[in-house]
This record gives sequence, structure tokens and C-alpha cells, in this order.
Amino acid sequence: MKILVSILLLVYAKCTRGGVYTDRFLTQYEKIHDLANGYFSSNGVPYRCPEGLAIVSTDYGHTTDSEALSYFIWLQATYGGVTGDFSPFNNAWQMVEDTLVPKLQPSTSKYNHSAPILSNGLWVGVDPLFQELANTYGTSDMYILHWLADVDNKYGFGNVNGKCEAGPGETGPSLIQLGSGSIFQQIPSPTCDNWVYGGNYGFQYQDSDANRVWIYGAGPDADARAVQASFWASQYAKSLGKIDEISGSLQKASRLGDYLRYVLFDKSFKTVGNCIDPLECAPGTDRESAHYLLSWTISWGGSVDPNGWAWRVGSSTNYYAYQNPIAAYALSSDPNLIPRSPTAANDWKNSVERQVEFFEYTQSVEGSFAGAVTNSWKDNYEVPPSNLLDNTFYGMFYMPSADGSSTTFWYGQQAWAVDRLVQYYYISDDQKAKAILDKWVAWLLPNIKFDGNSYSVPNFLTLSGVPPSVSVSIQSSFNAIGTASATARILSYYAAKTNNAEAKNVAKELLDRMWALHQTQKGVSITETKDNYNTGFNTKVNIPLNGWTGTYPNNVPINADSTFLSIRPWFKDDPEWYKVENYLAGGPAPQFNFHQMIEQADIAISLATYGLLFNE
Ligand SMILES: *[C@@H]1O[C@H](CO)[C@@H](O)[C@H](O)[C@H]1NC(C)=O
Repeated sequence: MKILVSILLLVYAKCTRGGVYTDRFLTQYEKIHDLANGYFSSNGVPYRCPEGLAIVSTDYGHTTDSEALSYFIWLQATYGGVTGDFSPFNNAWQMVEDTLVPKLQPSTSKYNHSAPILSNGLWVGVDPLFQELANTYGTSDMYILHWLADVDNKYGFGNVNGKCEAGPGETGPSLIQLGSGSIFQQIPSPTCDNWVYGGNYGFQYQDSDANRVWIYGAGPDADARAVQASFWASQYAKSLGKIDEISGSLQKASRLGDYLRYVLFDKSFKTVGNCIDPLECAPGTDRESAHYLLSWTISWGGSVDPNGWAWRVGSSTNYYAYQNPIAAYALSSDPNLIPRSPTAANDWKNSVERQVEFFEYTQSVEGSFAGAVTNSWKDNYEVPPSNLLDNTFYGMFYMPSADGSSTTFWYGQQAWAVDRLVQYYYISDDQKAKAILDKWVAWLLPNIKFDGNSYSVPNFLTLSGVPPSVSVSIQSSFNAIGTASATARILSYYAAKTNNAEAKNVAKELLDRMWALHQTQKGVSITETKDNYNTGFNTKVNIPLNGWTGTYPNNVPINADSTFLSIRPWFKDDPEWYKVENYLAGGPAPQFNFHQMIEQADIAISLATYGLLFNE
């Protein structure tokens, strides 16, 4: 009888959930999973982008990162919601854990939680999470996603999860980090540096006194997205009576959420609020150092020698676009996701409230969001300009952007962030969130333009002023794909909750027009002309120490003459290389149709969300 019921549910799920839009979801999903379309490595790990010559924030197309993989988990959660089959969701979680949760953290038992950061002269606070997490999970290792991997081990470090520089014979993925400078200047290096490759001291750019070290870094918005995706899997599975099928994956998400609390604290665990002067601002104990927002990054590392030392450092900078109130809500109230550590649910409960307040604080007079706050001015607890002292956020100081003074910012990140706010509102019915969203939607709708069969959404925005009178204007708009789909999803949730017919219609128009205009054999894409690839590919790499030389595995030299291209010789084997080669020889700028996982998954998820919410 039980079997019959679940078969019936599956049939029900397959036949009646959604319609045109869930069918389109499945079309897009099948394109992504068609192996001929090149989204996956031979190890079954999705690339950031199937096109190897996509030079994006993660180096080249065949890297992968926690952002792409968190989107992949979300894609699979959505597939479960549409079809009732959650095995791809479980497989995705296993793959992500195997790939990006570092297995090699040799010296964490030497971490001193009373001195989390090894720094001379800085008065640092106590890490209030370490002991609790160690008690809960029986290990001193972290459970957070390292952000970046070289999927096919092209650089050759062989830093396959659990190994330190096992070399080019490994098939990958190999955990790497990027160097300093622009994307074209950076010298990628292994997360575990045992001095096998690079210069005399591996990739430690020092003349002497260097150490053999390991280091990992996270992009917390991606980790939070993995939790958010798991929350939707939990919702879908519950409604289909299948929650038991995904309990193992939910435990992984829950554990990730337990450790992700590190990003809710000041980077040196100093007291949050009016923290000025590194020697004056007091170190915090317990939650005195918590800002409760999803900050910019967390990194951790130590010595390769297990008897050496280890450190952890968070971030004092909080950007509105990293916030994820639905993930925080899930970690504080979904019994399947509340982390096991005793204080975790309460930390995330405080975080939900703080994040919603932060959206309110960073909302411009027009309705768009903009800006960040920091507990550490100039990243050194300096004295901020006096015009910032009146309107702080819990004593933290306003900055136009998370990485300095730039006043121009991309709308896409805003669309992602507001999507998380509207999902939170959809689930919680929080009226404070509703008021913020009402104002945002009223700003957005007139700025989405339909012209003939085309459409445009904002692209770059610029801000001026300081709170409470930050003003935002739209610099440019275009027919984007990923940001338009995220916008459509926001409007779908908003419309479903508030019965707003215009929001629903605009969501539908964006999805329909994108589908009609930009479908390709591999997914949905807009042709891009890369007129910076000639200067970019010939850019000299940035060597941080004068006179330093080294070699990559496979004997690729790194020296003052090395370029972006010379340290990546495999580019010449790429099927689209001829386009760049032609350009470097004086021909026209190359054109590509890239299919980044984050966009392809986002589009699929939007189609399914619209289909499931409105049964269309
Ligand atoms: C840990 O750090 C504290 C504060 O700096 C220090 O007093 C203590 O001796 C350190 N413990 C160990 C085992 O090094």
C-alpha cells in the first residue's frame, strides 16, 4: 500500500505539477545534462562554464567554484520539486562535499581559539564557535566550501581533495586559489603548498623564512545558497512525503550552516560597533563580536606540519547583496536544517532579523539597494570620515561597495539578493520584509522595458550620498539572461504572495521573451564580443616579489615575461581557440556564446518556480 501511494504521488507529480513552464524547465534541464553539451568533466563535476575560453571571475571556463556548484544543488532541488525525483539532489550534494569541503586540514588541532589570528600587535578577540563545533562534530576541521577548483587539473598541482601537490598525473578536481591583480594578471597556486612547484619556497613569495602552508577561502553567499537550495528541497520533499529520502543531504546543509556562522563575526573577533583604533577597540567575548550579517569572506589555514599552527579569519565587511534571509530562516526554524550545535538556531534567528534591518538600511530613496557597512574602516579599524558617524548600522560604517570606494555596481547581484528576501517573505509573511519589497518592486517595474519582442533590465547602477539619503540611478540596461531570470523569479514570488497581477505579467513576459529570443542548443545565451582578449591574453602576470621565478607542473615557466596565455598552454587545444588566435593576429574580436552554470541553472529554476507557483 505504501509503495502504491508513492507511485501514485510520483505519477501525480509528473503529470500535474505545472505545465508550459515546468516543461520548459525540463527542456533546459535536459540540455544542461546532455553530456554532448560539455557542462561536465569526465569526473561528473560541472564546470563553471562549458566553454573553456570563458574568462570569468574564476579564472577560465573549466574551473568550478562554490557559486556554480551551489546553483547546481539548487537546480537539482528544483528538479526534485518538479518531478518528485530527489536522487540528483542527493548526488549533487555528495559531489559538492567530495569536491569542495577540504579533507586536508592537517594542523587544525593546533588552532588556538583564544588567538584565532596570528598577528603581532593586533588585540584580537576569542573565537566563540570553535569549542562548540568541535564538541558537536568531534573534529577541529572546518566544514565550509573552499571556493575554487581546477576541474581537470590543467595547472597540474594535483591538489585533489585530501592530497597535497600529488602532481599532473591526477585527474582532478584540484583545489586552487588565485593570486593578486586583475583576472589576467593572477598567478593561480595550490591551496596546499608543500614547495613542490613554483619557486624556491613554492608559491610563498619570500626570500627566506617561508613556511609550507595550506589555506582555504570561502565565498559565503555560495555556501548560504547551498543551504537555501536545500531548504527548497526540504519544502518540496515534505509536500511529496519524501523528506526521508533527502535526510542525508539536509544533514550536510545543516552542518554547513553550523560552520557558516563564522561569517557572522568581525574578522578579528573584536567588539562590533564604533570599533575604532586597533589598540583601543576591545576584543569581544562570546557574541560581542557578532554583526550577524553574511560578511564578505572567511579563510582558514595553517602549516603543512600537523604539529605547527592554524588560524581563522573572517571579514568585518558586510555587503547587502550577500545577505540571504531565507537561508538564515531555514537554519533557525526548519527542523530538518537547524544545526546540531546548541547555540546555532539562535544565532541564525538573530541573523534573520539583522539581515532584514540591513536591507532597510541599504535601501536607497528610490527603492534600489546599495552599499555595505564595515566594523573595520580601511580594514584596519581606522577613524572613518565624520559624515559617516551619524547614521551607522549597529555602529558599523557605511561604504558604497564592499571592496572600497566604487560607486558603480551591477544589478545582477541585487536581483540575487532580493530574490532571497522575497523568498523569505513568501515563506514567513514578515510584514517588515513586505514593506521593503513593496518599495523595491515599485522602483523596479517602470525600469523593465519591453520593446517589440525584446526586453531590457537594469545592468549597471551608480549611487551617491550616505544613509539615510543614498540615491541610486540606472546607468545602463540590457537584455540580460541570468539577471532577467532572477528578476522574473522575484516577481513570481512577490506576485504569488500579494496577488499583484502586473508583477506576475512582467515575470511571464521576461521568461517568454528570453525563451523565444535566446535559446541555443546548449541552453540560453547571448552572443558576446570579447574585444579585451588581445590585451588580456598578452597581459604580463603579476609577480609579487621582484626577481621571483618559478615553474608550474608540466615545466611551464613563470617569470617576468610570462603572460596570461603562456601559463595556460592548454588554451591552444580549445575548439574555439582559432577565434582568439585570429584576433591576436590582427583579425576581428572573437565572439562567443557562453553558457555559465550560474545563468543556465538560474533560468531553469525561474521557469520551474513560475510553473509551480501558478501551476502553468
Ligand atoms: C592561546 O592564546 C592565548 C592568548 O594569546 C595565550 O594566552 C595562550 O597561551 C595560548 N595557548 C597556547 C596553547 O598556545
